[in-house]
Amino acid sequence: MIEHLGQLFKHLSCGVYVIGIRDGERQNAFTAAWVMQVSFNPPLLAISINPQHYSFKLMQTGGVCTVNVLSRDQYALAEHFGKPGLSDKMAGHRWQTAVTGAPVLAHSLAYFDCKVLHYADAGDHKIAVCEVVAGGKLNQGLPLLYALTGNMDGGDSFY
Ligand SMILES: Cc1cc2nc3c(=O)[nH]c(=O)nc-3n(C[C@H](O)[C@H](O)[C@H](O)COP(=O)(O)O)c2cc1C
Repeated sequence: MIEHLGQLFKHLSCGVYVIGIRDGERQNAFTAAWVMQVSFNPPLLAISINPQHYSFKLMQTGGVCTVNVLSRDQYALAEHFGKPGLSDKMAGHRWQTAVTGAPVLAHSLAYFDCKVLHYADAGDHKIAVCEVVAGGKLNQGLPLLYALTGNMDGGDSFY
């Protein structure tokens, strides 16, 4: 047993992202911090996603997603897209459509447009390995850090 493991994990430097998902007519978006680049060539990202999420089902069937980088002043967006069970989380925000068809959060700092290649098991999560096929810088600012979100994801209660 490691004391305060939830707080200790916050020392790993992670950003905070909104992952946009589309499967045909259905789309959704959720907050994720466990995202990283894992290859130069081809350009790959890995996203750790809880298979219980509604978004996971859409990701599995749709096979595409965007990773939208939140800025330091978008704490409220991280909270909003981190809430399960909202009927239309995406309403009231500006969205564009990426090359893959996945939704892009227009007021994020930057986005990556991805095709999901495969999944790996990782404890109670799955790691989606994704190829970056497009992307761009959208706005100026400093990225929001996971460490600044405190216990927003409820992680402290797991340890
Ligand atoms: C700061 C923060 C970071 C999060 N990071 C992740 C993550 O990396 N992976 C994940 O599966 N869920 C993560 N979550 C939880 C999801 O955002 C949350 O469960 C969300 O409701 C899932 O969306 P859905 O139920 O609409 O699919 C995070 C939540 C917050 C607030």
